[in-house]
Amino acid sequence: MAAESDEDLGLKKPPQGGGHGRVGHVSVLSKEAIDFLAVKRGGTYIDATLGLGGHSYEIARRLGPQGRLIGFDKDPHALQLAQRRLSPAPGAEREWPQVILVHASFAELEERTSSALADGILADLGLSSLQLDDPNRGFSFQAEGPLDMRMDPHNERTADQVVNRMREEELANVIYEFGDERRSRRIARAIVRARPVRTTAHLAQVISAALRSMKHTAIHPATRTFQAIRIFVNRELEDLEELLAAAPGVLKTGGRLVVISFHSLEDRRVKDAMREGAAKGVFQILTKKPVTAGDEEVDRNPRARSAKLRAAEKIGQ
Ligand SMILES: C[S@@+](CC[C@H](N)C(=O)[O-])C[C@H]1O[C@@H](n2cnc3c(N)ncnc32)[C@H](O)[C@@H]1O
Repeated sequence: MAAESDEDLGLKKPPQGGGHGRVGHVSVLSKEAIDFLAVKRGGTYIDATLGLGGHSYEIARRLGPQGRLIGFDKDPHALQLAQRRLSPAPGAEREWPQVILVHASFAELEERTSSALADGILADLGLSSLQLDDPNRGFSFQAEGPLDMRMDPHNERTADQVVNRMREEELANVIYEFGDERRSRRIARAIVRARPVRTTAHLAQVISAALRSMKHTAIHPATRTFQAIRIFVNRELEDLEELLAAAPGVLKTGGRLVVISFHSLEDRRVKDAMREGAAKGVFQILTKKPVTAGDEEVDRNPRARSAKLRAAEKIGQ
């Protein structure tokens, strides 16, 4: 099934995207994602999470001039960078597919596209390294930054509102539900007492102090709470559910859905949606177990460690 090389795919040397090059985010499970999408020349593909366009570039170069790539991202900065990477190099315009970039959540997939449009949909969930590594975006507990955490800067809800305004009980529930954090009540109490919490480093310090007397875990004490706040701020699980609900309608029969997730809350939703689809005769599941990254990829890219890829093909209405 999997093509081994560009020659196997009948590809010529790819026309390079105008701004193609290293851009600071290494795409996870790239070969596997492209293989499961089984990209067809002349097809229409949707990248629901464009990021820096790494996966999209691999799709685009297989499509040819009759093909079409539609990329979604909530983050206008990511769209700008992806646009550069996905524009054809001078002289290669005739070989390059149509590329349409959309600044929207993939939760709007159904409204922004049409039914039976796509030969494949890819979603590589979560954050790009560009977002995570920029202290000004407020995603990292390892750097001093504002309590922001919005993928889309136009989003009204910020981490600051959650941290400094939410009622203690509600905050504890968010930390428990979206961070899988058993010590959520203790953390929420410490945050409320420390208000106003002004920066990511301050928040990390408050959480570390609240858990100081407790058993040490392998991960930083603030990891789960930061994950929880980020998921809540960006409505990540609601958006994912909407994407999964819309995907069968937007895919053509024979089209494929490929999702890469990074934690169990996401993966469970993907697994359940694909199983429900299979039970209704809409999907055939292509990955009995989730596909994970090999040691070599994890060595090169630690972000790949928790990645799980699931794929399904639409076989019925
Ligand atoms: C892991 S990165 C994708 C990286 C990309 N596959 C690549 O190879 O460069 C995830 C991207 O999806 C975007 N994103 C996350 N949730 C989204 C949503 N609900 N709608 C649209 N974009 C979203 C983030 O802003 C981020 O840029």
